[in-house]
Amino acid sequence: MPSSRLIFPFAAAFFLVCIAPQPAHALFGSKKKAAEKAGAILFRDKGCAHCHGVAGVGSKKAPALTDIRKNKVWTPAKMSDQILNGGKKMPPFADSLTDEEVAQIVAYLRAKHKPAPPPGQEPPSAPAQ
Ligand code: HEC
Repeated sequence: MPSSRLIFPFAAAFFLVCIAPQPAHALFGSKKKAAEKAGAILFRDKGCAHCHGVAGVGSKKAPALTDIRKNKVWTPAKMSDQILNGGKKMPPFADSLTDEEVAQIVAYLRAKHKPAPPPGQEPPSAPAQ
């Protein structure tokens, strides 16, 4: 079987490529995922969802943020700046969020698949009962 002799080196190389960078990637991936999850909770609990809608789908008060990761204008640095200093109609959050929390929200907004926050607190816009 001549073809198996041909395939073997490729299979071996593929196997090595698969196992070699895995540990570093897995670690990076889970850290990133943790930040995105934390950001999802902050987005819901710090008032972002009040204007930008649940999961940032947008509302009459503020634009949707769902596709912001594809928007070249909104770099992570610009997003952080908007969150810290506010905008025309958006309040600044520099006093209520730490740098780490802002980074987590940016990670959440830039996530390809936005994680849903775990059930917990009601959004701030909900009437207290
Ligand atoms: C009082 C309503 C309000 C709240 C609360 C609010 N925003 Fe905004 N946000 C806006 C409005 C309105 C804009 C549009 C630009 C402007 O007026 O500054 C905006 C713009 C943005 C943008 C830029 C996107 C764009 O297309 O303009 C980002 C990113 C953003 N908000 C993130 C957040 C995050 C994260 C939070 C929570 C920490 C938050 N916002 C809380 C009203 C709000």
